[in-house]
Amino acid sequence: MAKLFEPITIGNLTLDNRIVIAPMCQYSAENGRMTDWHTIHLGNLAQSGAGILTIEASAVSPEGRISYADVGLWDEATEQAMGQVLESVRRWSDMPVAIQLAHAGRKASTAKPWDGGAQIAPDHENGWQTVSASNLPFLPDENPPEALDREGLARIRDAFADAARRAARLGIDAVQIHGAHGYLLHQFLSPLSNKREDEYGGSLENRMRFPLEVYDAVRAAFPADKPVTMRVSGTDWVEGGWDVEQSIAFAKALEARGCAAYHVSSGGLDAAQTIPVGPNYQVPLARKVKDAVSMPVIAVGLITEPEQAEAIIATGEADMIALARTVLYDPRWPWHAAAALGAKVKAAPQFLRSQPRAYKDLFVQA
Ligand SMILES: Cc1cc2nc3c(=O)[nH]c(=O)nc-3n(C[C@H](O)[C@H](O)[C@H](O)COP(=O)(O)O)c2cc1C
Repeated sequence: MAKLFEPITIGNLTLDNRIVIAPMCQYSAENGRMTDWHTIHLGNLAQSGAGILTIEASAVSPEGRISYADVGLWDEATEQAMGQVLESVRRWSDMPVAIQLAHAGRKASTAKPWDGGAQIAPDHENGWQTVSASNLPFLPDENPPEALDREGLARIRDAFADAARRAARLGIDAVQIHGAHGYLLHQFLSPLSNKREDEYGGSLENRMRFPLEVYDAVRAAFPADKPVTMRVSGTDWVEGGWDVEQSIAFAKALEARGCAAYHVSSGGLDAAQTIPVGPNYQVPLARKVKDAVSMPVIAVGLITEPEQAEAIIATGEADMIALARTVLYDPRWPWHAAAALGAKVKAAPQFLRSQPRAYKDLFVQA
C-alpha cells in the first residue's frame, strides 16, 4: 500500500490521503471578493483527488492584501462572495477545504505578478501605506512600512480572529495561518525585519510573541473541533536571519498550544536570500522539524513525481506533501500518482469513464 495514499488525521479531520493542495494566490478578486475565476479554479482542484484543498492567502484586512486583486475575508461582502464560490465547489466535491489567513505587512500594495509585481506607492491608484514590525522596507527604494503600535497589533490580531469566525460560518474545515514567505507574521519572527525594542522584538521569545498571539486568537475564534495550522518559512536563507532552529522553537511553542500541523516552506523575507532550488529543496527543513515535534509536518517545494512524493512520506521525512505549480500544471496529479503507485483515488461519477483500461481499480466513486 502506497504511504502517500494512507489516510491521516489532523486534529479531528481525517483526510483520504497525504496530498495537500497548497495555497495559491490568483490575483483575480474584486475588492477582496472572490469571482467566478475562483469557482473555476477551486472547482477544478476539488476534482483532483487530493486529500485537502487550501484556499489562497486570504487577507484579514484590506491593507493586508499583497495586491489590490487579492482575496479577502474581512466583511460581509467578502464572506458572501467566498460563500458563493464554496457552495458551487462543495456541490460537486466533498474534499475538505482549508483557508490560509494572511496579512502581507510590508510586502503589500503591489501590482499583479503578470503586471510586474512591483510595489505601488500609497499615493497611486491601487496603492496604500503598508505596515510591519519595524519601518524597514523589503527593497531599499520602496516606501517604508509604518511600524505597528500596540493598537495596530491588537487590530490585526482581532482581524485574524474575525476572519477565522467568518471561515467557520462558511463551513471551512481548517485554518492555516500564513507565517511564511516574508509576510507580516514572518516579519515579526525574523531578526532581519524585526528591529523592535519593545516586548515584540529582540529575543526569539519576543519575536514569536505576536505570531503566537495571532495563533491564540484564531484558535479561540475557530471551532475547537476543527484544526488550526501554521505555515512557516523554515529559513530565510540569509546569514543571521530566521533559521531551522528557530522554526523548531516556534513549532514547539505552537504544538504546546494545540496547533494541528506545521507546514514548512522557506524564504521570501529578504532579497539577499540564496535558495538552493531543486527537487525536494525544502524537505530537509521539514525533516528537522518533524524530528522535534509530534504534530504532522508538511513538506513542499518542487515535489513533482509520484515516486518522489511517496519516498518523502515512506522514509518519514514528512507526514504530508503539498503541491502548488505541480498541480496547476497537472490538475489530476493525484490520479496519476495513484495510478503510478497502485493506489485508489476518488473520482466524480461524471469522470469515471476516463479510467484507462490498464488501471482497472483506480477509481472510487466520489
Ligand atoms: C501561483 C502561485 C501562487 C501562490 N500563492 C501562495 C499563497 O497564497 N500562499 C502561500 O503561502 N504560498 C503561495 N505560493 C507558494 C506555494 O504555495 C508553494 O509553497 C510553492 O510554489 C512551492 O511549491 P511548488 O514547487 O509545488 O510550486 C504560491 C505559488 C504559486 C505558484
